[in-house]
Amino acid sequence: MNRLVIISNRVAPVSEGKSQAGGLAVAILEALKRQGGIWFGWNGEIEERTQAPADPVLKQAGSITYATMPLSRRDHDEYYNGYANATLWPLLHYRLDLASFDAVTYEGYRRVNALFADKVTPLLRTQDLVWVHDYHLMPLGQELRRRGQGQRLGFFLHTPWPSPEILNALPAMQDLIEALCAYDLVGFHTRDDLGCFAQCVTATGAGTVELVDDGAWARITAADGRQLEARVFPISIDTANLEKLAAHAGQSETTQRLRDSLVGRALIIGVDRLDYSKGLPQRFAAFQELLDRYPENLSAVSFLQIAPPSRSEVTEYQVIRRELETMAGHINGLFADFDWMPIRYLNRSFGRRVLSGFYRAAQVGLVTPLRDGMNLVAKEYVAAQDPDDPGVLVLSRFAGASREMGEALLVNPYDTGEVAECLQRALHMPLVERKERHSAMLRRLRAYDITRWREDYVAALAG
Ligand code: ADP
Ligand code: G6P
Repeated sequence: MNRLVIISNRVAPVSEGKSQAGGLAVAILEALKRQGGIWFGWNGEIEERTQAPADPVLKQAGSITYATMPLSRRDHDEYYNGYANATLWPLLHYRLDLASFDAVTYEGYRRVNALFADKVTPLLRTQDLVWVHDYHLMPLGQELRRRGQGQRLGFFLHTPWPSPEILNALPAMQDLIEALCAYDLVGFHTRDDLGCFAQCVTATGAGTVELVDDGAWARITAADGRQLEARVFPISIDTANLEKLAAHAGQSETTQRLRDSLVGRALIIGVDRLDYSKGLPQRFAAFQELLDRYPENLSAVSFLQIAPPSRSEVTEYQVIRRELETMAGHINGLFADFDWMPIRYLNRSFGRRVLSGFYRAAQVGLVTPLRDGMNLVAKEYVAAQDPDDPGVLVLSRFAGASREMGEALLVNPYDTGEVAECLQRALHMPLVERKERHSAMLRRLRAYDITRWREDYVAALAG
């Protein structure tokens, strides 16, 4: 078997024992645990440096070799906070209003992609399968080609790929699409994403596209004559493991403490990075509407929202954090009683075991992003349920996961009235209906888990 080399901005070493909030790190770790290989990227540290960038430090943990290096303060500001998270992230999530455009940060983005290429090249062998992840590193394949790397290079985008109407706002759109054509395989979560990408390739003249298999696959001939493929690989979770973890954690002391604190009240749970794409203000407003419209829920339902801070140096993330603190305080001020707090709002991370117990204890999983590539929390919530008494998933139509989870109560997250109605329905859904909906989704999650995702991608990359 060829060696797998994974490259991503965020690397989450298993040895640190910390839980990383973020779908990419969670999924790559699960995938690499099985197959082994190298995982190259940023070590999460900022180096106040003036000297030349350090070489990656190699650490072995089981079958995974971590090769990580710090970023300089300037690279972190321009590439990570700047172009990746203040330009690309909002645009890819349809938030033109939040995107900033700045030639300096684009310069930094290209510079760090070139740096990653310089630093990873000495580690590569001719037979390696190189798999690059996410929007931080779109130009990396092209940089590797410029350094003479001829091996199979794949890219996977963990976010949505929006319509050309949105991406037209990006001055570097043409460059980035041409850069993506340097890979052999480009992967997306859904057919919609792939379809929009195909339109962008055609519209920019970066290549010609032939869509096959009902839009799940595209053969692309780049302008320079290179052949590549773009395909749909919906990311998933380690279903069997999570089912087991949740069954145990459901009985754990921590989950019992959560249950005790509810004193018989129903629990709605939300678990997200604190990101404006997750629709948290709308979710809080929907919960308020539930209490307004259906007062029988007063003192009878608690909403636990876990949202660890993310990208806190970027202004928009500071703004949303303040907004949510105000909203949670306001709603609790309006409705709380001396023995009941409607919203429990926690800005921290939990280990996977604890989280799975919390999912299992909740009657409703509330997952309402305004846009999301896939959303692993939706899948984790379903896998963590007790099959004999499962909770109900309320899921945004604008999450990639909604394509595979049609048995959830699908909602428009902007329509807070509709979300409130679905919450009420979920809280009162009969057991038979809950079981039917849950078992259909669980069956699919068992059949297409993280291992299938990795195997399918790697097989396609191996050609
Ligand atoms: P995103 O990748 O945009 O953050 P996903 O829902 O796809 O969204 O993935 C989030 C991942 O991070 C999930 O695996 C989830 O369990 C994990 N996660 C989110 N919040 C927390 C938290 N507070 N503690 C631990 N893990 C978290
Ligand atoms: C999303 C992105 C990932 C990113 C994660 C956490 O899942 O697609 O690339 O790693 O969020 O964000 P962070 O900026 O902390 O890496």
